[in-house]
Amino acid sequence: MRLILVSNRLPVQWDGTPNVGGLATGLSSFLSHWKSLGNEVLWVGWPGKSIPEKEQNQYAKKMLEEHGTIPVFLKQKLADSFYNGFCNKTIWPLFHYFTSNCEFSDGTFSSYEEANEEFAKTIRGIYQPGDWVWVHDYHLFLLPGILRSEFPNILLSFFLHIPFPTFEIFRLLPERIHSKILKGMLGADLIGFHTQSYTQYFLRSLLRCLGIENERGIIYFQNHFTKTAAFPMGINVEQFSKYASSAECDAIADQINTNHKKLKQILSVDRLDYTKGVLQRLNAFELFLKQNPNWIKRCKLVLVLVPSRTDVPSYQSMKRAIDEKVGAINGSFGTLDWTPILYQYKGFPFEELVPLYKNTHVMLVTPYRDGMNLVAKEFLVSQKNGMLVLSEMAGASAELPEAILVNPNDLNGMASAIKEAIEMEETEIKNRNEVMVTRLKENSVMEWAKKIYTDTEDTANRNQNFQTKSIPPNSEALLPKTNEPIFIIFDYDGTLVPFQSLPHLAVPTQELVDSISKLSQLPNVSIAIISGRDRKFLETIFTGLPLHLVAEHGAWHRPPNKKEWNSLFHSNADWKKEIKSRLEEFTKRVPGSFAEEKEFSLVWHFRNADPDIGLNAAREMLDELSQISSNSGFFVQRGNKIIEVREYGTGKGKATVKILPDAPLQTFVFGDDTTDEDMFRELPEEAITVKIGKSETIAKYRFQNTDDVHIWIKHLINHITNVTHHAS
Ligand code: UDP
Ligand code: G6P
Repeated sequence: MRLILVSNRLPVQWDGTPNVGGLATGLSSFLSHWKSLGNEVLWVGWPGKSIPEKEQNQYAKKMLEEHGTIPVFLKQKLADSFYNGFCNKTIWPLFHYFTSNCEFSDGTFSSYEEANEEFAKTIRGIYQPGDWVWVHDYHLFLLPGILRSEFPNILLSFFLHIPFPTFEIFRLLPERIHSKILKGMLGADLIGFHTQSYTQYFLRSLLRCLGIENERGIIYFQNHFTKTAAFPMGINVEQFSKYASSAECDAIADQINTNHKKLKQILSVDRLDYTKGVLQRLNAFELFLKQNPNWIKRCKLVLVLVPSRTDVPSYQSMKRAIDEKVGAINGSFGTLDWTPILYQYKGFPFEELVPLYKNTHVMLVTPYRDGMNLVAKEFLVSQKNGMLVLSEMAGASAELPEAILVNPNDLNGMASAIKEAIEMEETEIKNRNEVMVTRLKENSVMEWAKKIYTDTEDTANRNQNFQTKSIPPNSEALLPKTNEPIFIIFDYDGTLVPFQSLPHLAVPTQELVDSISKLSQLPNVSIAIISGRDRKFLETIFTGLPLHLVAEHGAWHRPPNKKEWNSLFHSNADWKKEIKSRLEEFTKRVPGSFAEEKEFSLVWHFRNADPDIGLNAAREMLDELSQISSNSGFFVQRGNKIIEVREYGTGKGKATVKILPDAPLQTFVFGDDTTDEDMFRELPEEAITVKIGKSETIAKYRFQNTDDVHIWIKHLINHITNVTHHAS
């Protein structure tokens, strides 16, 4: 299996030095394992700077040979507007709740679209069917959509490494932009997030912004299913713990520590980013020293800050503020023989970072907001007796509750947490860390990737099954095969006419009525319309046509050319009174919803309600009524923006059987809703059953929409007319 990994960042920079950041380091450690299993990997990404055109070929060749990476070349101006602009001045601050740092500009979004196209272009050049393509992070939200439209069967995952914000934050993006982002992501078979909350926020944004619902995290959009779920990213535990217990690591740890052996080490390691809460952390350390003078000259803070996004002004101003604060603390607390803060403005390689972790007594990971934070996890598997102080706002806190959890806005709380950690008994630290390390071992980065792959493949298989049922309306398979009479059954709403906001607006075009009329007059053709609508409505719509009309899901039948309606079932609707009053209570609670009474059923409509409120109430109703439905004479079914409560032994399926003549027939049935599945189920095996639109079905074939049904009708008329013409 070949994996094409796609991210803005590559594991190495343009000059071959390693990139720092959770995505690059985390994925690199997974890849070394993945490759060792004999799999092939190509990593597609931006080199980090613009490479002159004449050097590009040479550069690409070198990167492929030395690192297995394929560069996406972006011109300097485009890269600046895409990366520094839309990615880091809009999405990054917004998704981390730093709304005041956000800039909204159509110009940078156009560059974002252009850059995503450039990535697609590179992938187009290397993709082969059977590859697994895995797109990463917020720089490439549009890419899954582009790839899906070009390669409908591509096996495609998307993983977001940063938080997905609540709907109220997400909607701050202009509509034109936020809808493109959501639709772009839905091109993937699987969308993974670090936590359950991010997943829920994404699903809610889908519902609120695009009105798209989900069924336990599965979304159906443009004839394609996408699964969403939380996959907390792990680390390569073995790699860290093995190195941490090596003599080499101890030697480096000793070397680093020679001058400060007696001091307890407090450590903080971050990319220099305003989301990491570095200034607040320094304030907390200062407060800790003020409140606990006994720790002066007995501890030191090693502050590692890796330069990051240095072209963005908010990063530059933050750097100045941190420099000043470090100077102020060292100036006021330091002495000739002791400096409280050892400040390192650079990145450390793995071989030096692990010894640093190992020497540490208190690890401070206190971001204001962080998608996951791998440093916290790396520290835990490398330390020998160090306590983790962790922000509740880091995704990692959901998995590491045994750490000392802090709110990064609570300065006093943070200072107390430092004290608690530095003074904690060794056995207590050991006990807490053991639990967390065991958990990290069970969810290593390899397990994480494996789960993502399995879930992507499952959804892709589901999509494959779905696709095989889709059929063009003029296909040969949908034409009569014998001279036996033809019996055609159409559901009405969603099958013959599309849904409208109000039921009375859903009426057929004159063209469609004419087609149905023409078809119904052909020899040996019978047509039935089986609908949930009432008698009056069907009579009016199909006035004068020789059709079987079946109203209210099978309650009433009017044969062709007759005026009277017959009741197909005998009602015993004792259950209705109680359920009706329950539905009315829901109606009062949910503005825009309404209840409708039919002969054998009650229907609650929520199409015009607020999508969130409507859906929540519908779920509640479904749950409540399903629980009381056993032995009560009714059953509950979810339809398209409706909940239907119907009497047992009635319904479209049973009605179909009752109206079909007892003679050899070629039967065609078309329906879009769950109530139509009953018809598909009740009909003989030879019947041609066709589902219109999304969701799973037992029908043999699938049409995309009502237009396909219209085309099929015309195609059938032509076919029968030609056959009759040739025969005469
Ligand atoms: N890192 C590193 N050298 C350093 C500092 C950090 O290699 O000097 C790595 C660290 O090991 C971790 C990553 O950078 O894997 C940071 O990831 P994290 O998820 O903590 O934060 P991000 O940078 O992704 O926001
Ligand atoms: C975070 C993002 C990554 C990014 C990394 C470093 O971890 O989720 O996508 O690569 O920060 O940032 P940079 O802008 O240098 O790529």
